[in-house]
Amino acid sequence: MSNIKHDQTLFELAQEAMAKAYVPYSQFAVGAAILTQTGKVYSGCNVENAAYPEGTCAEAGAIAAMVRDGETQIQDIYVIGNGEGLVTPCGGCRQKIREFSSAQTVIHVCGAEGVRQSFTMNELLPSSFGPENLEQAS
Ligand code: THU
Repeated sequence: MSNIKHDQTLFELAQEAMAKAYVPYSQFAVGAAILTQTGKVYSGCNVENAAYPEGTCAEAGAIAAMVRDGETQIQDIYVIGNGEGLVTPCGGCRQKIREFSSAQTVIHVCGAEGVRQSFTMNELLPSSFGPENLEQAS
């Protein structure tokens, strides 16, 4: 379910979420937007607080909104931040995305101008640990 229309919509959703980021400490706003396998969309922004490590990432916010709505299959996730560097999901967020990903899941890393690079989950988190590991253990 990846086409120009979805790309544009999801990118704009991520941009809108980024504009709402609460980042008084880092000043580094991030937005994320998810398209599920069922065609639903969710977004999130990073939310910091005075106890620095307790802040939450944009991806975590979008995932929480998705799960709250009963959805658990990420088709595409768009992540946007400012600057020259690629704002790829942090290590913790890679694991969070992994929980709800499949071989078809694509992570689109965006800058102000649009998508800069797209990755599969396996590219961002190779040899990952996931729900299947727990099913096999006994
Ligand atoms: N941040 C995200 O929201 N997502 C990422 O994947 C990378 C980092 C946020 C956390 C913090 O609020 C700010 O960016 C600077 O690290």
